[in-house]
Amino acid sequence: MENLKGLSISDLIKSKRIIVIEIKEKKLKEIIKIFKKIDISSLELKPFSRFNIAKKLENLFEGKLSNFLNKIIKNRKTGCFILQPEKILDDIDDKFLIKLSTAITYLIGNPNYDAMAGKYYARFHIKHKDKSDSYLRKAYKNMDLHTDGTYVKEKTDWLMMTKIEEKNVSGGESVMLHLDDWEFCKKFSKDPIGKENFIWSSPKSKNVDYKVKHPVFSEDVKGNPQISYIDQFPEPKNMRQGIFLQELSDSLEGSKNKIITKLPVGSSIVANNYFWLHGRKPFKKNKDLSRELLRIRGSFFIN
Ligand SMILES: [Fe+2]
Repeated sequence: MENLKGLSISDLIKSKRIIVIEIKEKKLKEIIKIFKKIDISSLELKPFSRFNIAKKLENLFEGKLSNFLNKIIKNRKTGCFILQPEKILDDIDDKFLIKLSTAITYLIGNPNYDAMAGKYYARFHIKHKDKSDSYLRKAYKNMDLHTDGTYVKEKTDWLMMTKIEEKNVSGGESVMLHLDDWEFCKKFSKDPIGKENFIWSSPKSKNVDYKVKHPVFSEDVKGNPQISYIDQFPEPKNMRQGIFLQELSDSLEGSKNKIITKLPVGSSIVANNYFWLHGRKPFKKNKDLSRELLRIRGSFFIN
């Protein structure tokens, strides 16, 4: 794989499909210097300023970063990368990580409006106590493998998750599964029930007041299977659909080819949302547990 100056590229030890991109310390300092002049509220309020920060990052890599990232994320064989700093410098804080995540996503596509947060990105905490209505913040429950955007009208081609903070955490590893590594992909993706329209809705906290209809499985232009699935939000309308979803869930969770990895603080994972599923292992109980994540989801640029 080609290398860019200021980056160190490798495969994740556990999978050749996930590319690990490490930003070297010298390059990090250059990015920090340029990002310091940019204000987060302008990023939030003026969409064009997000393209501007992306362009500044692109320029630091001689105009080659966007092409490099898009190749990974659109390639069926990979489709996922982890971006991490070589060293956690003092300036790598929440503000820097929001700016870096913004710049990276605006080299890939247009982020969707995140209704849960009311802006183009969402920050959320996972803590010991939780009263929420979805698995997102339930620290001690397994968050089963799923894709994002199953219950919204917008296209969700990719997603990014950045770890802003982590304290008193044991467990809570990221779990990833590529469709082509799943033992029963063919069986389920070829099943006519998987191609039926399902109804998808979401709990109150998501702030989405409509329902959508779409199948679990579709195909890309080359005929490769694609999935749009999460356990909590489809509303099966009969026994056939209900049992199909139960068996699908059991099969995904039972896969021996899941990749379980710890995402370090300051790192981001970006994945193609059509053939990568993601989830999270439960945390070990700790009353002081605290994790903060940032997420951005969106569509690819069309031109
Ligand atoms: Fe998710």
